[in-house]
Amino acid sequence: MAQLRGMMVCVTGASGFIGSWIVKYLLDKGYTVRGAVRDPEDLHKVEHLKNLKGANQRLELVKADLLDNSLVAATAGCQVVIHTACRCPEANFRITNPQTELIEPSVKGTLNVLKASFSSGVSTVVMTSSVGAMYLDPTRPLEQTVDESCWSDVEYLVQIKEWYCLAKTLAEKSAWEFAAAQGNGIKLIVINPGVVMGPVLQAKLNASSTHILKYLTGCVKSYANRCQAYVDVRDVALAHVAAFEDPKAFGRYFLAERSIHRARLVEMLAELYPQLPVPKICSDTKNPEAVPHKICNAKARQLLESELINIGKCLFDSVESFKEKGFL
Ligand SMILES: NC(=O)c1ccc[n+]([C@@H]2O[C@H](COP(=O)([O-])OP(=O)(O)OC[C@H]3O[C@@H](n4cnc5c(N)ncnc54)[C@H](OP(=O)(O)O)[C@@H]3O)[C@@H](O)[C@H]2O)c1
Repeated sequence: MAQLRGMMVCVTGASGFIGSWIVKYLLDKGYTVRGAVRDPEDLHKVEHLKNLKGANQRLELVKADLLDNSLVAATAGCQVVIHTACRCPEANFRITNPQTELIEPSVKGTLNVLKASFSSGVSTVVMTSSVGAMYLDPTRPLEQTVDESCWSDVEYLVQIKEWYCLAKTLAEKSAWEFAAAQGNGIKLIVINPGVVMGPVLQAKLNASSTHILKYLTGCVKSYANRCQAYVDVRDVALAHVAAFEDPKAFGRYFLAERSIHRARLVEMLAELYPQLPVPKICSDTKNPEAVPHKICNAKARQLLESELINIGKCLFDSVESFKEKGFL
């Protein structure tokens, strides 16, 4: 592993929630990091990166947008590219044109990263996909375990207007097709996290952190009759690093500690913070409580060489960091 340490790793979406933790761990491990961000001068978005230990010596921030030709320069001289950048709208954000707002940027952006990486001679690309590219298939029985072999059904995603999951599914499929067409020219590894929570490093709150914060401020009075798989951002970031460090790593990695109904999530929050206005009622009073998918995270545990962080601890650390950063 020691010979890897001097090499340069490019991280797209470096200023984002997951990207920031990846940059932190890369710097901690002694790598030289090129953080690709849309505006390196925007201190609100990048100051936390500049303040990371080792950043003065080994972090370079470069301007890059997924949809222009800046990626070739961003990836030049790098052995590894970690591609996390993607538009991640909040759940209540109204999408008027899914094709131009989400699908094209996600698919084209991913292909642009891969093409630039290939032309720059990058050996490994680690891409952040999502559980959204795995679990939404109406033909899969609920008792069947969700793991790396599962793909969301594209027609179903269109039918239920799950535009973000559609964008992630199509982008991941395009990435695998591109990598296969290059033969052994480039190694692709994909990380598919569930909903990512945990302490925030950045100053601008991201969509999945807002998912937790909204249950703490009194702004929502009920929770949805839904189940989701959850994972801590520190596990997600470490998995991206392990994915290129471990020569045995291959294919997709499903990162989730467990899948639970929203009721269990708010119960955990209420137990941890009884003084906060956590909702106690479900918005759906007609239907039975939704049942969570069975999940298998064995491949992720093998990659991380540990158990995943417990969701209770993850929630506590999330909320403590919201308080520390003044979000709560
Ligand atoms: N958080 C989750 O629950 C979760 C779960 C599964 C998968 N993921 C995936 O994980 C990745 C990171 O998500 P996150 O939670 O860290 O979100 P985030 O905090 O919103 O970070 C996304 C980053 O992508 C950048 N970006 C967006 N569009 C771009 C473009 N056209 N060109 C260059 N950069 C662009 C954003 O830059 P700006 O700040 O300039 O907009 C931001 O830095 C995404 O691929 C997401 O789909 C996230």
